Amino acid sequence: MARGAAFLGSETAILCGAMSWVSERNLVSAISNAGGFGVIACGAMTPELLDTEIAATKALTDKPFGVNLITMHPALFDLIAVCAKHKVSHVVLAGGLPPKGSVEAIKETGAKVICFAPTLALGKKLLRSGADALVIEGSEAGGHIGPVSTSVLAQEILPALAADNLVFVAGGIGRGEMIASYLEMGAAGVQLGTRFAAATESIAHPDFKKAFFRASAREAVASVQVDPRLPVIPVRALKNKGTEEFTAKQVEVAKLLDAGEVDMGEAQLQIEHYWAGALRRAVIEGDVENGSVMAGQSVGMVSKEEPVADIIAGLMGECEAALARA
Ligand SMILES: Cc1cc2nc3c(=O)[nH]c(=O)nc-3n(C[C@H](O)[C@H](O)[C@H](O)COP(=O)(O)O)c2cc1C
Repeated sequence: MARGAAFLGSETAILCGAMSWVSERNLVSAISNAGGFGVIACGAMTPELLDTEIAATKALTDKPFGVNLITMHPALFDLIAVCAKHKVSHVVLAGGLPPKGSVEAIKETGAKVICFAPTLALGKKLLRSGADALVIEGSEAGGHIGPVSTSVLAQEILPALAADNLVFVAGGIGRGEMIASYLEMGAAGVQLGTRFAAATESIAHPDFKKAFFRASAREAVASVQVDPRLPVIPVRALKNKGTEEFTAKQVEVAKLLDAGEVDMGEAQLQIEHYWAGALRRAVIEGDVENGSVMAGQSVGMVSKEEPVADIIAGLMGECEAALARA
């Protein structure tokens, strides 16, 4: 974990993955202050909003933190410029392959670039294109997910890349024993989201947190895709009325595609906007029936509100004990 921590500039190489609406100034600064690595979720924010959020986070911590940018954001390059203005040390590019010139633009600012690698081949390509580190995220994770489980991705990618590159593992990590096993396979660190979403410092609505405490692993389900022309990236969230509505939303967007009223890019953007709105409803307004309560399968291991420092200490303790036993 030492090389992961050295790369991040943090005490431990435990990243709190960016979570739209949840990963704002309070949670991000709390994670970094507790020795982890917080990441602001830019999501659909405008450059002005991101500017404000970074400045506010800096006011709460002098420790390093990252900013997660969604590659399909129409103002991606303006957002990169905002990160440059604030000398953000690490930019995470999420939501698909980075568009031409984006990795270079970030590196020119002096920041490190972290990319998501969905397969071994793409991981190699991203490293050749200049990515400084990779995150591999399995389908157990909360939020947008790929089709392959963390354990399989780890077996495919870590032995091939982890000795010479920095690879962080995400998805389904609930305890330190699991962190220990990925470290033993060569991972430089890990990224968790679900374990931190309901932390004391998280601004998520009390009802959003309660839904986490009550839920078991099997209730965190992946959304289904209804139209093969509209390859919607599945989202893992707690089963509720909102997950059913998402199916209806896809039918609606597919009809717009049929009628030629939107092109593919616009159709996917509409789906993304739907998610951003639905997630906001659950996280901020506490509407856990109609909103999207994004959560990973490790939600079953979240049973009470805890300060992030206690969560990180618990994970590190379990991890150290497991490595000592080994
Ligand atoms: C509520 C929620 C919102 C999320 N939003 C984003 C996001 O905006 N961008 C992103 O790259 N990942 C997002 N994620 C994924 C997390 O950053 C992280 O990679 C994931 O939660 C790790 O897996 P775990 O949930 O099993 O711990 C989200 C996850 C959750 C639970």
